[in-house]
Amino acid sequence: MELQNQRVLVIGGSSGIGLAVARRAAASGADVTIAGRSAARLEEAANVLPFPVATLPLDIADDVAREVLAGTTPWHHVAVTAGDVRTGPIRKQSTSDAQSGMNAKFWGAWRVAAATPIIQGGSLTLTSGAFALRPAPGRVIAGAINAAIEGLARGLALELAPTRVNVVSPGLVDTPLWSALPDDKRRAYFERTAAALPARRIATADDIARLYLTAMTTPILTGTTLLGDGGHVLI
Ligand SMILES: NC(=O)c1ccc[n+]([C@@H]2O[C@H](COP(=O)([O-])OP(=O)(O)OC[C@H]3O[C@@H](n4cnc5c(N)ncnc54)[C@H](OP(=O)(O)O)[C@@H]3O)[C@@H](O)[C@H]2O)c1
Repeated sequence: MELQNQRVLVIGGSSGIGLAVARRAAASGADVTIAGRSAARLEEAANVLPFPVATLPLDIADDVAREVLAGTTPWHHVAVTAGDVRTGPIRKQSTSDAQSGMNAKFWGAWRVAAATPIIQGGSLTLTSGAFALRPAPGRVIAGAINAAIEGLARGLALELAPTRVNVVSPGLVDTPLWSALPDDKRRAYFERTAAALPARRIATADDIARLYLTAMTTPILTGTTLLGDGGHVLI
């Protein structure tokens, strides 16, 4: 119960990695609030969690989020997993599509850092992705956004100190993010990737949630990126 009575906010907590972070934080004794754009999705997530959690409808792609977050009671730990990134080959992608990903994921993280009150000695954990280190054709903007987030966190670790600021960088994770792919294609992609990875598996959301809990509860960890990629950067 390492997070007993601590206030934890998970922005992106209604699905995937964020939902798994909320589950682990609540199981460790935290008072958890989950935030996301859709109030209905938040309610649905709150109903599947085995612990009571509060919900906070919020769009971090919008500056209004700054005002909402600034008005909240200070948190011990804040995790941001939210962010929609539209990928595609640069010569086929519109500027506005590329910018919308940057606005939601990078500037979203920036808005959270700028506005959210965090108790002294608490933590902020952002989310990047392995494309930051291991770019892929067709995913260039995702890699650039993720790299920018890692740079942001290193600076924030100094400026917001003693609040600790870290990043979790997942590789491929089996979450609803991939639900737009037809089942057979998704399964084949996951199996192909797992076979190529040194860990011989792709991550579950809960595998990655462990890293956020580590970032929250390890008092010496700040300004760093925890890579949860199954060894992807090595191949
Ligand atoms: N899954 C992977 O393979 C993978 C790999 C590398 C990195 N990542 C990164 O990990 C993070 C989490 O991914 P996931 O797989 O858990 O995705 P997910 O299952 O789609 O969950 C995304 C969550 O973020 C919320 N959200 C999205 N945009 C938001 C916004 N503008 N404001 C507030 N909440 C917002 C969503 O709720 P609403 O839609 O209701 O807002 C949802 O709760 C993302 O940043 C993603 O880029 C994922």
